[in-house]
Amino acid sequence: MRLDKFICKSTELSRTEARQAIHAGKARVNAEVITNEAAQVHENNCVTLTGQRLIPRPSRYFMMHKPAGTLCSNVDGVYPSLFRWLDLDRRDDLHIVGRLDADTTGLVLLTDDGHWSFNITRPEQQCAKVYRVGLRDPLSDQTAARFAQGLLLQGETTPTHPACVVPSGPREALLTITEGRFHQVKRMFAAVGNRVVNLHREQIGGIRLNVPSGQWRALTRTEIDGV
Ligand code: URA
Repeated sequence: MRLDKFICKSTELSRTEARQAIHAGKARVNAEVITNEAAQVHENNCVTLTGQRLIPRPSRYFMMHKPAGTLCSNVDGVYPSLFRWLDLDRRDDLHIVGRLDADTTGLVLLTDDGHWSFNITRPEQQCAKVYRVGLRDPLSDQTAARFAQGLLLQGETTPTHPACVVPSGPREALLTITEGRFHQVKRMFAAVGNRVVNLHREQIGGIRLNVPSGQWRALTRTEIDGV
């Protein structure tokens, strides 16, 4: 991780204060003064600030059940940010792994571990996301085949990865996708002439949502390692 981030994760300093300390020559990595805030340091390097050894706080990982009418953003906008429901210290250190639209409900993952979230969201990882989709019209017979083949969405040049859709009610389906394109689920159903009327994310990789709306909990070690 970057030296400035390492210092923030080990002290109460803000990013700006950490950078000022680095530029002032107060930080050493393995006894060498480092004045570049972007220098990469490993968790087990010996990093000191004005002679004090720094030990980073462990990374944090949470699931939250996002209510409708909330924003996946650190700040309020047209709707309140879902961070309002997260009564935790240093919640601004956290970021959201795979945003949902304001009207979408369900599973949101939050962490301060950039490597972990990068691994979940990078397309090559093919991490499965499961959505329960309420539809205007019943699922047509062709939809499963079209989704399995991959669809060209409006304005895009590469087709979607193969996706699996199964009916779960007269106007409801369970959809599994392995990408996270902009408004992907709504655009996929629009591409086959249907319309999403409500959308709920149930699962990301091996992590299943199991807290009530507006609630959150820390992830278990098994969930963190198995995603
Ligand atoms: N796809 C969408 O269209 N919206 C979401 O919120 C998530 C996936």
